[in-house]
Amino acid sequence: MSHVEIQSNENGPNLVLVDGKVVTALCRCGQSQHKPNCDGSHRTAGFKAPAAKVEILP
Ligand code: FES
Repeated sequence: MSHVEIQSNENGPNLVLVDGKVVTALCRCGQSQHKPNCDGSHRTAGFKAPAAKVEILP
């Protein structure tokens, strides 16, 4: 069974990790031109949000 985590980077996207590897970065600032993926726009938008981590249990 795979281990799935979602890590919210401080001031950045939600990273989806499967078995410790990042499989995608999802925008949480609302400024990406390629939603639902992060395109780095959070940096120029000045997005501020705390880090967080969620583990998905089987
Ligand atoms: S979090 Fe990176 S573009 Fe929105």
